[in-house]
Amino acid sequence: MVKFTSENAPKNNKKSEEQSRSRKQRAQRPAKARGSGVSGQLAGNASAVSPGARAVVLIGFMGAGKSSVGRALAELLGWGFEDLDDRIECRELRKVHEIFRDSGESEFRRAEHAALKELMGELRGGGKRVVALGGGAFVQARNAALLVGAAPTVFLDASVQELWRRCNQQAGEQGTERPLLADLERFRELYQARRPHYLKAALRQETGGKNIETIAREVMRALGLERDPRKPGEKK
Ligand code: S3P
Repeated sequence: MVKFTSENAPKNNKKSEEQSRSRKQRAQRPAKARGSGVSGQLAGNASAVSPGARAVVLIGFMGAGKSSVGRALAELLGWGFEDLDDRIECRELRKVHEIFRDSGESEFRRAEHAALKELMGELRGGGKRVVALGGGAFVQARNAALLVGAAPTVFLDASVQELWRRCNQQAGEQGTERPLLADLERFRELYQARRPHYLKAALRQETGGKNIETIAREVMRALGLERDPRKPGEKK
């Protein structure tokens, strides 16, 4: 059975606020940024902010590799790494799937926004970090707004079949529990509803058929980032 959330519910004839807002935002972006969608190429103002960036934010659907690529990228750069879902779990003293199960998705989204707000405040105070967001975070307009001008966003992309395969593999091998991992039909619908949001990222990075290290290196190169020169013994 296909379940609908606010994100993929069938639309009536009246266009949703979200849709018209996203169209307006696209229209306001420079022509070179629109619909670029080219793997490993910059869009929007990423080239202006990236060389001096103090944070990189990885976005994309479940199974995109945000956490594993994020860790590898942080290692290459000599930066810290943070998974927003981990911060949510620490703040809420519950696992993500427990928040969904006991309090529902809207409570999870509230907690997610609060955690991101806190994190962005910390990033302003210093420290360089690669951040992996959960698959639904960037889709929420208020979260995307927190990132504008603060850090380049990177959309890790793959085909829906590949994402589905990776998620099921992680569930089998690592016991990863994803509350929104239902059947393939629902997974595909959610992916299609979210993809236009992900494409607003500064960079789209194709991940299909590539290993984690290669993806991390490609992101680093595309953003023009270099390893942080660090004195021996100095902390991140
Ligand atoms: C979610 C994805 C999850 C987690 C939560 C909601 C989503 O993170 O934040 O279950 O809405 O797609 P991953 O993308 O790391 O699986």
